[in-house]
Amino acid sequence: MIKRKGIILAGGSGTRLYPITLGVSKQLLPVYDKPMIYYPLSVLMLAGIQEVAVITTPEDQSQFQRIMGDGSRWGLKLTWITQASPDGLAQAYLLAREFLDGAPSAMVLGDNIFFGHALPNILKRADEQATGGTVFGYRVADPERYGVLDFDGENVRGIIEKPVNPPSNYAVTGLYFLDGTAPERAAQVKPSARGELEITSLLESYLSDGLLSVERMGRGYAWLDTGTHGSLLDAGNFVRTLQERQGLQTGSPEEIAFENGWISRDDLLKIAEPLGKNSYGKYLRSIAAAKNKT
Ligand code: G1P
Repeated sequence: MIKRKGIILAGGSGTRLYPITLGVSKQLLPVYDKPMIYYPLSVLMLAGIQEVAVITTPEDQSQFQRIMGDGSRWGLKLTWITQASPDGLAQAYLLAREFLDGAPSAMVLGDNIFFGHALPNILKRADEQATGGTVFGYRVADPERYGVLDFDGENVRGIIEKPVNPPSNYAVTGLYFLDGTAPERAAQVKPSARGELEITSLLESYLSDGLLSVERMGRGYAWLDTGTHGSLLDAGNFVRTLQERQGLQTGSPEEIAFENGWISRDDLLKIAEPLGKNSYGKYLRSIAAAKNKT
């Protein structure tokens, strides 16, 4: 099986967060102690993915590169792709076609934050599926804001983008595991009424071929919204509460790279150095020391 590659879609103008996002990309805003994009990046890393394309607007690309570079300090190989105009999530597969080169992919939206103790297990299950696709359904109180699953008993019969009358409370999260046919299928997608190449249309193509699996993320998961000023602050508070209570980080690329054996203890300490005595630097030093003892 060809190794799965990752895509982080971090384009868009973030109008819902104006005036904050007038000067900086939404996906670079802080979620407590880390830039937002660290969280979706961590999800791909937990899935064992090391080759990742990051799609940004042309204007914002250099700022992302300042933070993430070529990815080598996290044991990753990053490819940078620009999206001149945000014409829908399915467009990402057209932009990333050459990068993917026939490989299966996991695409995550740069503003989606996931938390859950069994996350690595469900990611592994999705990764193991060589053909077809896997999406993750999550129960929300306000499904009309998302792509929504339409169930026929236990089976999914449709996915509807931002329905006025949602057929269920299950939103499709912004994490998509698709096989190597995704770019071909995306090329067949016609723009929707709002002029976008909808991800739901691409998913419908898998669904109608009987090739889409839906995993539900149950009560033990958090899928956080960062789309409004209030929810962005709530996400930051959630991360802070969890981290301070447990003394463990969530969404730390350095920790995952170290745990995955992609970087050494010395690499980790080198990254911690410029962070000085701040809590993130201290944390990285503590995991380097702990690992050293075992
Ligand atoms: C997009 C997708 C939607 C999905 C959501 C997840 O919506 O179109 O299907 O449920 O991401 O975050 P957007 O947030 O771009 O409006």
